[in-house]
Amino acid sequence: MSKLHVAIIMDGNGRWAQSRRRPRLAGHQAGADAVRRTVEAAPGLGIGVLTLYAFSSDNWKRPSEEVAGLMRLLGLYLQRETARCVKNGVRVSIIGRRDRLPSDLLPLIESAERETRNGTRLHLRVAVDYSARDSILRAASVVKEVSRESFAHALGRACHCEEAAPDVDLLIRTGGEQRLSDFLLWECAYAELHFTPTMWPDFSAADLEAALADFRRRQRRFGGLPALAAG
Ligand code: FPP
Repeated sequence: MSKLHVAIIMDGNGRWAQSRRRPRLAGHQAGADAVRRTVEAAPGLGIGVLTLYAFSSDNWKRPSEEVAGLMRLLGLYLQRETARCVKNGVRVSIIGRRDRLPSDLLPLIESAERETRNGTRLHLRVAVDYSARDSILRAASVVKEVSRESFAHALGRACHCEEAAPDVDLLIRTGGEQRLSDFLLWECAYAELHFTPTMWPDFSAADLEAALADFRRRQRRFGGLPALAAG
């Protein structure tokens, strides 16, 4: 069975914290723990590529303390988890714009990407200052040949990734909302969608397993006919 590309919109950190009368940043911290659990569980569940939406280009609209806290958390995560990723064969890429990120985050991103580049068990892509529509526009402005393949490559490069991302097989969104929020719009053309009311900090390996079990029950036709009816 070929390995899956699973993408996750990690929603609900703020509400998780609010319901515990804690600051929103405590929700993001608990969210970072859920990221670690998910990354550990993913390879054993047949996932080869995992793309996580950590910070959208629209998230700059949030209060500056929350933005700064999120950037700090990302830096801490990269510092703390890079060695574990190397050990576990996890390659880390950060996708999105880099020119607006805090300057002290950039060397952490570059060293995490460099140190983990030989990982083959899982490709962990973390989307930071990411907007699918802006990436599509950047790719469209440089693409030389108008074909799906070359556009997908240009899109990868527009997000600071060496290669084109494979199509997303399963998109999970936690936190009860049912929308795409400008995430991987090109790559999700035939993605199966899974929405769960679970807040991201509560998301567990069992929840990931349940989402995959739901995915495996779906019949993917890609615009064709079911196998039995096809003849
Ligand atoms: C959405 O929840 C979540 C975010 C905007 C940030 C996601 C960040 C993390 C999970 C932690 C850091 C990430 C990594 C990769 C270490 P929300 O704040 O919009 O929640 P709400 O809808 O309940 O307010």
